[in-house]
Amino acid sequence: AATERFIRAMPKAELHLHLEGTLEADMKFALAKRNGIKLPYDTVEAMRASYRYHDLPSFLAIYYSGMDVLRTEADFYDLAYAYLAKAASQNVRYTEMFFDPQEHLKRGIPMAAVIGGITRARGDAAKRLGIGSGLILCFVRDAPLDTAAAALDAALPFKRDLIAVGLDSDEKGHPPADFAPLFARARVAGLHVTMHCDVNQENTLAHLRQAIVDLRADRIDHGGNILQSPELVAIARARGLAFTVCPGFSGKVSTGGVPIDVVRGMLDQGLDVTISSDDPAYMGSRYVADAIVDAQPVSALTRAELVQIQRNAFNAAWLPPAQRDAYL
Ligand code: ADE
Ligand code: ZN
Repeated sequence: AATERFIRAMPKAELHLHLEGTLEADMKFALAKRNGIKLPYDTVEAMRASYRYHDLPSFLAIYYSGMDVLRTEADFYDLAYAYLAKAASQNVRYTEMFFDPQEHLKRGIPMAAVIGGITRARGDAAKRLGIGSGLILCFVRDAPLDTAAAALDAALPFKRDLIAVGLDSDEKGHPPADFAPLFARARVAGLHVTMHCDVNQENTLAHLRQAIVDLRADRIDHGGNILQSPELVAIARARGLAFTVCPGFSGKVSTGGVPIDVVRGMLDQGLDVTISSDDPAYMGSRYVADAIVDAQPVSALTRAELVQIQRNAFNAAWLPPAQRDAYL
C-alpha cells in the first residue's frame, strides 16, 4: 500500500497511449446518442463485457469497431480532454498520444476535425490542468499503403500540432521497411519517428532490426523481443534508445525457452525502459498509474527503479531541453 501510494504520487510521463484506446464504454454511449448512432450493445456493462480478445488481431477488431461513434470535432475534443483529465488525476505531467487518422479519414471525417478537436483539448488541458502533451500520427500498417500516404498529406498542413509519426495495428506481413519513404517525408517535415514492434510477432527480430538499424527509429513501442538478440540490445543500449513498454499488453517474451518478464529483462540489460498503458479503455480501465501499480510486483520493481523508469520517460519525451529540465 505504501508502494502504491509512492507510485501514484510520482510525477509521471506517458509515451505510449492510443487516444482511441481511451474511448470508455460510457463515452461511447454518450457520443452515440449525440450522433444518432445505434450501438450493438444496450448497456455499458454489456459493452464492456464484449471486450474479450486473445491476440493483436482480435484486440484490434474490437478497438476499431468502437471508433465509429467518433464523428465530429467535438467528439475528438471530448475524447482527448477526458483522457488528459484522467492522466492529470494520476499525476501524469506530460504525455505523448497516438491517433489513427486513416481510420477516421476512411469514414469521411476531415483531418481538420480530428486534429482540431484533439489540439483544442490539449490547449485547454494544459491551461486548466497543467498537463503537457504531444500528438503522434500513427500509420495503420495493415491498411493500404496509399491511405497512409494520404493521411500524411492531409496532416502536413497541421504539422505544428504534431510531434512525431508512429506505426501501429496488425504487424503480420507489414514490416517497418514498407514505410521507409513515409518516415523519410515525416522527418523532412521536422517530425520524430517511432514504431510499434509488438511482442511475439512473426519475424519479430527482423522487424526490430529494420526499425532500429535501417530506419533509425527515435523510440520503439513495445519491442520486448529485443531481449532475444544480444547484438540488438548492445546497439540500443549504446544509442540510449527508449522502449515504451505496456506490461498489460506485452508482459513476457521467451529467451532460450524460458519466459522472461519484459520490464525486468530490459532493466537488467540496462535498456531505457518506460511503462505506459496503451489502450486503457479496453484493458480494464487501467490508466498509467494503475498499470505501474500492476507491474510493480510482477517485475519486482524497487523504488529506485520506479524513479528510474519515470526519468527514462521524461528523457525519452520529445520536449525542448528547458521544458524537460523543468520536469526532471
Ligand atoms: N493499436 C492500438 N493499440 C495497439 C497496439 N498495442 N499494438 C498495435 N496497434 C495498436
Ligand atoms: Zn500501442
